[in-house]
Amino acid sequence: MFEKWYLEELINKTIRDIWKLTDYFLLKLISNILDNAEITPLLKSGTTVNNIIQKKNYPANVYASLKWLLDRLKLDGFVSMRLDNNVEFYTLSNKTMDYDLDAIKSMAEKASPESMAAFNMLELMANNYPDYLSGKKTGVDIIFSPENIDITNEYYGNNLFYNVHNIAGAKIVNWDISTRKNPQILEIGGGLGGGTKQFVIQRLKENAPLNSFNYCFTDVANKMLRSTKKALSTLTEDLSAFTFKKLDFNKNLSEQGYAENSYDVIWGVNAAHVSFDMRFSLNELFKTLKNGGSFIISETVRPIGNLMIQQEFVLNTLDDYWNVKLDEKIRPRHGFMDWNDWVRALKEIGFTNVETIPDMNVLQKEYDNCYVAVVRGIKP
Ligand SMILES: C[S@@+](CC[C@H](N)C(=O)[O-])C[C@H]1O[C@@H](n2cnc3c(N)ncnc32)[C@H](O)[C@@H]1O
Repeated sequence: MFEKWYLEELINKTIRDIWKLTDYFLLKLISNILDNAEITPLLKSGTTVNNIIQKKNYPANVYASLKWLLDRLKLDGFVSMRLDNNVEFYTLSNKTMDYDLDAIKSMAEKASPESMAAFNMLELMANNYPDYLSGKKTGVDIIFSPENIDITNEYYGNNLFYNVHNIAGAKIVNWDISTRKNPQILEIGGGLGGGTKQFVIQRLKENAPLNSFNYCFTDVANKMLRSTKKALSTLTEDLSAFTFKKLDFNKNLSEQGYAENSYDVIWGVNAAHVSFDMRFSLNELFKTLKNGGSFIISETVRPIGNLMIQQEFVLNTLDDYWNVKLDEKIRPRHGFMDWNDWVRALKEIGFTNVETIPDMNVLQKEYDNCYVAVVRGIKP
């Protein structure tokens, strides 16, 4: 179900074509970072991540992001890596990089102005990466500083590639509730309301009612509640079915006013992976669902054709991205998970009929860069 829609409309030809350009752009940016930070000469003779950190006097916490940069170049053959006594030695390869940043960007802009949000964000990060590596700036300084916040907001709010998550999640939620009577819906980690807006836009397009459900929009940050309410009011005057409340999924939900067995659908876009202790959060959300209720998440996942997700170039710089509790069955890795990790996690919590909609097994046979998955589990 929805496989054809996903492959032809959701991840359409424009997205596929420009995606390749973002990859070339990123590779060139990484190469420039290494030049600007004077890491390139070290790579010419072969070096380890720890050697670079030591020679450049970088703080130890940049290890993972620095390694990511080298691994990303390695994936495309610009760097080679050999293991010596289990230590990874990276060396620049002979492959030349011909990408021209301006030419790529203007080609992408011509094809889709909405793709600029991704290019601008990558550029912002790259310009600041040498300062991040040397410890002069944190990821928060770069991503959330007042002078850069518009770029960040555009990245999450008006971005050809990111919007796919919102559209896909909202589509499955609208489909799920089409057979429910007056469903109670809870959205978690709603942020700037990208998913919520899609939920409303899709209903308006289909002439579906906006008062046949109750929708509780939540986020841990009060600011998000206000801005989403404002954004939704530009789409419709009728927000009577919507409430806007704070919810922290790292804490007990009933103590925050979310009673057990009270929602038909709980959903979120790229929110669940932010949880500190995923087992705890998923258990809380499970309890809050009614029997027969759906838990639906739209998440960035690692596509088989590119396990190194571009968003990590941005998120690797944030301490919170790494500060999560690992759990073999529920959260086997930091950051974004594979779609089948999510399926396993939901089953482990007790959800039944756990599936990806559309079916990722089918999708990834047709296209190797399916970077968003919608996973649904039912509370029995
Ligand atoms: C990656 S953003 C996704 C936002 C939005 N759904 C979107 O796709 O644009 C993650 C969201 O989770 C929220 N968040 C972070 N920690 C949270 C927590 N403990 N409980 C609830 N929401 C949280 C953040 O404020 C942020 O809005």
